[in-house]
Amino acid sequence: MQKTHAPIGMFDSGIGGTSIFKEIHKLLPLEQVIYLADSKNAPYGAKSQQEIINLSIKNTELLLEMGAKIIVVACNTATTNAIKVLREKYSTPIVGIEPAIKPAALNSKNKTIGILATKGTLASELFIKTSDLYTRSTKVIEVVGEGLVPLIETGDLQQPALKQLVKELVSPMLKENIDYLVLGCSHYPYLMPILKEIVPPYVQIIDSGRAAAQQTKNLLEKLNLLRQDRGEKCIFFSNKNPRIIEEILQSEERFLVGYKDF
Ligand code: SIN
Repeated sequence: MQKTHAPIGMFDSGIGGTSIFKEIHKLLPLEQVIYLADSKNAPYGAKSQQEIINLSIKNTELLLEMGAKIIVVACNTATTNAIKVLREKYSTPIVGIEPAIKPAALNSKNKTIGILATKGTLASELFIKTSDLYTRSTKVIEVVGEGLVPLIETGDLQQPALKQLVKELVSPMLKENIDYLVLGCSHYPYLMPILKEIVPPYVQIIDSGRAAAQQTKNLLEKLNLLRQDRGEKCIFFSNKNPRIIEEILQSEERFLVGYKDF
């Protein structure tokens, strides 16, 4: 197979990375994507760094066996805890997603921003370094999104318990007068309908999906790996709940969703 025709491999701790997939598919509609939803092991955010590294290696190896030409780590927790190890271990290009703290800090008028992310992301060396670099003159209100991922993984994005939890987590940031809210987990874009009910319109809510898609495109272009004709169907494997992926993707004809034990 020509290398340009090989798939883009993506993985996440579950369904959240499909928010990144949607951006990639919008920008690179010709590409075939193979997506691994490791829902069986979700959430990654409360695990030790070594556990996150081991899971990231397992997912990456499977995608490489499937012939991936590039790996997109569609999970903030896996990126911030494991991307360095993955890049040292594999020669295949690897794209990660980091919380969009830089644009938030640069554009904040109140010089106060909020970040909602997992414990694993907020405690990681990569996040702390990035935050120190860009937020010297900005107050950062960090909140751990404890309990959000398991509720999002149920696929019921309007359940009262989820609404209540989001309210409890975001209210302290609003009291501090943030004007940017950074969603530092690829599951959280699915909270957008709830967040829009809670957060006043002057607060900008940003995530990293579009930036990750652009970076994937730039890298494929630079390496002459961009596909020029329409690829095969995009395939989504879940090791727990393929039906939920089907629902949130509102599956088109070009998507195949199935169960795989990995
Ligand atoms: C998690 O599995 O805890 C969240 C994944 C992420 O950080 O994007």
